[in-house]
Amino acid sequence: TWSAVPAGPPDPILGVTEAFKADKDPRKINLGVGAYRDENGKPYVLGSVKKAEEILTASKPDKEYLPITGLPEFTKKAALLAYGAESAPLNSGSIAVTQSISGTGALRIGGAFLARHYPHSKVVYLPVPSWGNHTPIFRDSGLEVRGYRYFDKGTVGLDFVGLKADLQAAPEHSIVLLHACAHNPTGVDPTQEQWAQISDIVKEKKLMPFFDMAYQGFASGSTDRDAFAVRHFVSQGHQIALAQSFAKNMGLYGERVGAFSLITSDAAEKARVDSQLKIVIRPMYSNPPLHGAQIANTILGDKLLYSQWEGEVKGMADRIISMREKLYGTLTHDLKTPGEWGHIKSQIGMFSFTGLTSAQTKALAEKAHIYMTADGRISMAGLNTSNIEYFAQSVDAAVRG
Ligand code: LMR
Repeated sequence: TWSAVPAGPPDPILGVTEAFKADKDPRKINLGVGAYRDENGKPYVLGSVKKAEEILTASKPDKEYLPITGLPEFTKKAALLAYGAESAPLNSGSIAVTQSISGTGALRIGGAFLARHYPHSKVVYLPVPSWGNHTPIFRDSGLEVRGYRYFDKGTVGLDFVGLKADLQAAPEHSIVLLHACAHNPTGVDPTQEQWAQISDIVKEKKLMPFFDMAYQGFASGSTDRDAFAVRHFVSQGHQIALAQSFAKNMGLYGERVGAFSLITSDAAEKARVDSQLKIVIRPMYSNPPLHGAQIANTILGDKLLYSQWEGEVKGMADRIISMREKLYGTLTHDLKTPGEWGHIKSQIGMFSFTGLTSAQTKALAEKAHIYMTADGRISMAGLNTSNIEYFAQSVDAAVRG
């Protein structure tokens, strides 16, 4: 029956983990998937998460189903975290929000909802490059995926001229996907002034802005600062769509905690959108998992835990920044590796887009047991004081050929 099913390629990101696991060399390093590792290279369960779990266990919760759109207390707090207490649509009760299976699930709910109910367009513009999963998520949601220029290989920075020209040239009302902060995979974000200009173009061209905010707090260490673009757009009257993930900023990867929200015109419109979100979600997975949402809800709802969590997010962001400095220093000053490496320091968030070619990344895997995605993206969180020298030396050898 299945003889005509062709073998598919491994996932460009999660496939790297499979290759890493199969490698038995003790020096091996996994810089593929964006999952935080502590100074010892181990997964990190935040202290605030452990405490929240203790509080939860002590409260002897049951295992009942959540509503289709998830834990209402959690989604309320998730929206507050993203939009901020001053948000006009939040305060007027016109934001429709649902819990989601982390960021991917939020994007998929949003994609499916827009494909079915957005009356003006079926076209979504993604930055080039974008997170590898964006294209299949939106394509499988029933949208046509196109690209807008984002990254300039020459300057290893933002191609702002290309970005503006492509958004100006997009058909009116197209959907445009924007990374709210810590752009994945490049680590290159627009400045606040550039965001203001993007907002103006989006308004002029009546584009539908869809933000993916997978790294709130992780870019700068401040959840408010990282929400700048989202809040600026909302203050300019844009009715944005927003995907949120708590995988990175709370380290809740496998718990799959996220939220999708959509700004509507008023409470009555919100109620209608809510009803249709349920109709999109129910046949997909019925209702979302309970435990992770309860953890996030406990942290966001408790003053002490909240400030502990903020400190822990900043701690993760700071360790990554220190690894950027160390890697830059080792390549540039100690090893004098050919090339310009300043972008390793200036890029933001979990990833560095190194500029290594796919041949070099292949050589690093085969010769040095170092794994990264083929586009040369490395998860900075996989580096620590014990492996960074070995990594830098291996990069130096790969670059010199
Ligand atoms: C990544 O880009 O590595 C993360 O967002 C994890 C994933 O699911 O791809």
